[in-house]
Amino acid sequence: MAQDTQHAPEPAASYPPPAEFATAANGTADLYQEAAQDRESFWAEQARRLPWHTDFEEVLDWSEAPFARWFADGELNASYVCLDQHVEAGRGEEVAIHWVGEPEGDRLDLTWNDLLDRTRRAANVLLELGVRAGDRVAIYLPMIPEAVVAMLACARIGATHSVVFGGFAPSALRTRIDDAEAKVVITADGGYRKGKASALKPNVDAALEDGGSPVSKVLVVRRTGQEVDWVEGRDLWWHEQLAEASREHEAEPMPAEQPLFILYTSGTTGKPKGIFHTTGGYLTQAAYTARTVLDLKPGQDVHWCTADVGWVTGHTYIVYGPMALGVTQVLYEGTPDTPHKGRWWEIVEQFGVTVLYTAPTAIRAAMKWGDDIPAGYDLSSIRLLGSVGEPINPEAWTWYRNHIGAGTAPVVDTWWQTETGAMMIAPLPGVTELVPGSAQVPVPGIEVDVVDDAGRSVADGEGGYLVVREPWPAMLRGVWGDPQRFRDTYWSRFEGMYFAGDGAKRDEDGNVWVLGRVDDVMNVSGHRLSTAEIESALVGHDAVAEAAVVGASDPGTGQAVVAYVILRGEVAQERADRGAEDAELVEELRQHVSREIGPIARPRDITIVPELPKTRSGKIMRRLLRDVAEGNEVGDVSTLADPTVMDHIRR
Ligand code: WTA
Repeated sequence: MAQDTQHAPEPAASYPPPAEFATAANGTADLYQEAAQDRESFWAEQARRLPWHTDFEEVLDWSEAPFARWFADGELNASYVCLDQHVEAGRGEEVAIHWVGEPEGDRLDLTWNDLLDRTRRAANVLLELGVRAGDRVAIYLPMIPEAVVAMLACARIGATHSVVFGGFAPSALRTRIDDAEAKVVITADGGYRKGKASALKPNVDAALEDGGSPVSKVLVVRRTGQEVDWVEGRDLWWHEQLAEASREHEAEPMPAEQPLFILYTSGTTGKPKGIFHTTGGYLTQAAYTARTVLDLKPGQDVHWCTADVGWVTGHTYIVYGPMALGVTQVLYEGTPDTPHKGRWWEIVEQFGVTVLYTAPTAIRAAMKWGDDIPAGYDLSSIRLLGSVGEPINPEAWTWYRNHIGAGTAPVVDTWWQTETGAMMIAPLPGVTELVPGSAQVPVPGIEVDVVDDAGRSVADGEGGYLVVREPWPAMLRGVWGDPQRFRDTYWSRFEGMYFAGDGAKRDEDGNVWVLGRVDDVMNVSGHRLSTAEIESALVGHDAVAEAAVVGASDPGTGQAVVAYVILRGEVAQERADRGAEDAELVEELRQHVSREIGPIARPRDITIVPELPKTRSGKIMRRLLRDVAEGNEVGDVSTLADPTVMDHIRR
């Protein structure tokens, strides 16, 4: 059961939609009725808002459950959906992306024409490099327009992209490249973060240096101009290739079930899972939720989703959802506090952002920096706020509404996952009376439930496990290369239901309160990390014999990584002999994790302990370590092989 009860329902204030908002909203109450009457026709109708090259007849094929096929006999092209259709509608000269680099004054406005031209040329470059429909391309880029272009260029030729977050270390990049058997990597010399040029290309070089990788070419975007090593015959400059490439390229119609992307996410084992998504169903739900939950309107809105394109939120609510709708967006390269803590609000003011979609961790950081910072900017353009990635505590929700949304903008808390592809539980801002801290109700067309251990729906007011009862268009189609892992992870816990891995409660009004993970996955600043992956990185260090990692509550980041390690006997002995302090080794271990996985995985605390709490069968009892990490009373130790272990650890 979920350990985190701090977000439990409380008699909170609720906020009905503002009248003018409700009148103009895309998402209306009748969507709930339509979906309830006939779910499949409802989804077919949403799908037909997209421009299909060939219309579909079959809506859902669930005969091979849990492997779904949606709109399978239809054909479309994701790049056409996101670009060509807007140009053909005569909107080519409108701005698609206001790109803002981190160094002040560094900006670029790209129209739909500009993006289409670049995407066509990039598609031709990939074709010349031998990439074909079905091949995989790894993308390892900072938040620059080329990231969007690279993704859409893959989609345009039916290649599957695997975007790897730029904060991942070489070995994590290599694991992902190998698992997807990527032929080409698209990277950059570096990007700007926290006021300086931060290199990326050396990570690709390090990832590939052992040889034996499936990669034949590396395309390198010049962003920072920093020195790069060059492997002749393998490395190519993006700008040189694009300059020579033909500007003609017809988007090829693809079957609806063409794999569109793979995105790796942490699971309960050390090996990340390649979550893969296909085209027609994914785009349908991405565009539908962007339209109804984020209420996006082309020609009117300026949307800003602050996520990195390396995460699913960036895929669905920067690239595919808003671009399918043809909405103008902001894309920002850097951190919120560079060069000053008002940077985000300055951007909102400058571009007249109307819809802002961000994560609770960013909201809590802004709260901590102080109300006077956003108060110094004109944020009156904002009409809707969104939150994603972790439970949002009611205080942060209310602050967000009051200080960023002028006390009037609806705040939509949206629950979904890499696996679900698009939003699943979220209010409709023109319909739902908002309750701070709860993602509230499934979006029309989605069937979620909270069930007990035996898979029975819990009564209102009770807690249990969050499940999805019916297939949905944007659902993952599997774990790349591992169908059994797909069944085991998501479909074996409860018969016929998708188990999300989250605990949840349903209140007396039927609102769902997501409480957090019930498995060994942590959520740090909205990033998913696996305890096992960090443990295996720690054990990979020469000094460490064994490691146990837990996620402990943290006021800033939601959860924080806390590790307990046992040193190898000879290392411990040698250190005891010379009276070595722990601090230096602890710092070295933190750096080691950062190098192996990436800075986001760096433990907040590492404690060197003589023993770990284990059951008689040798299983580490993380629950007890979590108690220690959170400074709580240590729970029941009676099943420990050696109950005195906890006394040592607490000391
Ligand atoms: C958590 C991010 C509470 C949850 C889109 C889920 C949330 C995991 C919310 C997925 C929310 C995401 N309220 N918890 N609104 N949104 N989560 O795959 O634990 O990076 O299972 O997808 O984040 O994280 P992922």
